[in-house]
Amino acid sequence: MASADDPIGPVLILDEIRGDRMHLAALAIGRAAPDPLDAPDGPAPFEHLASFGEITVWRARFAVPAEAPSSYRFAGSTYEIAGALGGDLRFAYVSCNGEEHADLSRAPAERNVMWRRLGEDHAEAPFALLLHGGDQVYADEVTQDHPLSAGWPVDLPDAPSEAALDELAAHLRAGFAHRYAALYAQPAFAWLAARVPSLMQWDDHDICDGWGSLPPEAAESAVGRAIFAAAREAALVFQHACRDGDLPGRFDAPAGDHLGWSVAGPGFRLVAPDLRSQRSLTRVMGATGWSFVERMAEETEPRHCFLMSSVPLLGPRLSLVERAMRRVPGIQKYEDDLRDQWQSRAHRAAWVRMLRLVDRMAARSGADVTALSGEIHLATRAEMPLGGGRVLHQLVASGIAHRPPPQFWARLLGALAALGEAPIPERPIRILPLPGQRGRYAAERNALTLTRADGVWSASWSLEHSGPTPPLSLTTGA
Ligand SMILES: [Fe+2]
Repeated sequence: MASADDPIGPVLILDEIRGDRMHLAALAIGRAAPDPLDAPDGPAPFEHLASFGEITVWRARFAVPAEAPSSYRFAGSTYEIAGALGGDLRFAYVSCNGEEHADLSRAPAERNVMWRRLGEDHAEAPFALLLHGGDQVYADEVTQDHPLSAGWPVDLPDAPSEAALDELAAHLRAGFAHRYAALYAQPAFAWLAARVPSLMQWDDHDICDGWGSLPPEAAESAVGRAIFAAAREAALVFQHACRDGDLPGRFDAPAGDHLGWSVAGPGFRLVAPDLRSQRSLTRVMGATGWSFVERMAEETEPRHCFLMSSVPLLGPRLSLVERAMRRVPGIQKYEDDLRDQWQSRAHRAAWVRMLRLVDRMAARSGADVTALSGEIHLATRAEMPLGGGRVLHQLVASGIAHRPPPQFWARLLGALAALGEAPIPERPIRILPLPGQRGRYAAERNALTLTRADGVWSASWSLEHSGPTPPLSLTTGA
């Protein structure tokens, strides 16, 4: 693992696309500010973004052409950026970059197999953007080793003092930063991250397991608030290359009360609601989170919309499993996991609202909508008919580093999926095998590639053992 002395980076983050420019941020981690980055428009100086104990993060903002390839120089090396967003292009989509326990002690050769393959893929035909759909970091263990949070989320201290909470905050900040730095230092990740601008939206493990679906006694406790504050600051710095007060233009709420964002390019847009900041046992998003997606549904330009829903928008009848589980004592953890899903009985009304919104989005824009999700450590896909003969495609790719659950779980989910589900009458959801696969759920590590060729979008999964799947067309009438 890298020590605090080894500089880490650059990691490119896409701030926004404005006019014919991609506005980027380059993150670097190291004791001293790196020399200015050599950008197409001239030198871009690094400024201090944040410090977490020994870890100091620097950021340079610069712009490159959106519709042509470009390059920049950093610390004596030249890095090519694919750009060319106006024509044929490829995006990569990944999720679940880690595991709950001892992720940082895994052998890098095993842990990063899929990252290396994605790098080889990029070397053959470059990706214009790298989309990260949640669980960019598994931070669960940062609550360990501190007396106030060691029992999280079950055993919580009574009325901790301000001084003790300050100490906890410092412990958590350092823990989050250490994990991000360790991940960003992994060579297979770093190689891609320096060449392909990333866009990220968080899920629960970027905060802690089940965040948003935990009992209010835990989530709203002083320790719960400290965990969320540390996770949020670290996500702003490491996932979005910003801090409070300077969120880039892609974010809907400049003050960051939710972290939903959207990016529009030629013929496509990416919409990433924040399903964590405002989540509780009884709601998926708050008023501002919903108003953001409602406005996204009013767009009238015919651009293919990729809706990044960290948890799958289309899925099987998990409410049945949830009901059965209520009768079994001692499996609260799994109940939390199910409560996290759109399909939970508690979120049924929100789920239907979101699905109707997607239908309106496709109708208003006259373009296709594709949902991209991670979370389940399996690869699968689903379809739901929309109005006007369109189909909502749900593509699930998870995880890039998280190993899959046992085969029997994949088969159980497959059997459950056969029961069917139709939250909107006459709009049955079908869970389907990936192209070329027999089972509905592929229990292999995986990543997803989205390709636009001659204006037609398609998707292909890269499966750890089975290899790349044949393409699945995402464009109606193509
Ligand atoms: Fe995950």
